[in-house]
Amino acid sequence: MNQARFTRFDESTADDWAIIDAHFQIYQNDASRRVLEHLLRLKGDNHGYPIDRYAHCLQTASRALDAGIDEETVVCALLHDIGDDLAPANHAEIAAAILEPYIDPLNVWMIRHHELFQGYHYRAFYGLDPHAREAYRDHPAYARTARFCDEWDQRAFDPDYPSRPLEYFVPMVERIFSREPFGGAPSGGAPPGDAPAETSGVASDTKVRS
Ligand SMILES: [Fe+2]
Repeated sequence: MNQARFTRFDESTADDWAIIDAHFQIYQNDASRRVLEHLLRLKGDNHGYPIDRYAHCLQTASRALDAGIDEETVVCALLHDIGDDLAPANHAEIAAAILEPYIDPLNVWMIRHHELFQGYHYRAFYGLDPHAREAYRDHPAYARTARFCDEWDQRAFDPDYPSRPLEYFVPMVERIFSREPFGGAPSGGAPPGDAPAETSGVASDTKVRS
């Protein structure tokens, strides 16, 4: 495949951007593979937890699956902690940003706020208010976020749970990432800074995460 010839954007041509966009489409289509590759980085160190973050992610997704929830939510469960190694102080932002172009905004909100909602189960041990999530009681994603944390995420530290292997979830992840980013809005090949953006603010604390 060809490549653009400009050395600065203000000298670029339509042909240059057609070339870049063709490259981007290929890159975009391979996103799910790269995301799953990154999930493997959570293997190994337990960080004091009973199981490592990789096993925790598989278990959270398996528990969601076993509850009969929709595929998009299962993929959210699989990837919700994927940012743990890159952004340990605000990891939920990473998963929310990665999935945001492909999923329901309410599920983006759910992932973005799962740290705070999960805190219902441990914040008291840090002298923090376990009921802090009640500030969002009237939010349309409150119920799903509470369910996500209470029924699947916070329970997913059992070494004996029959989690599915990653391969089981691969087709699901591929289907989600094959959706048109942002429903087909502005070209994904747009230069950095031009991407569609802006979602709701984040509420999080920076103690422990799961
Ligand atoms: Fe988690």
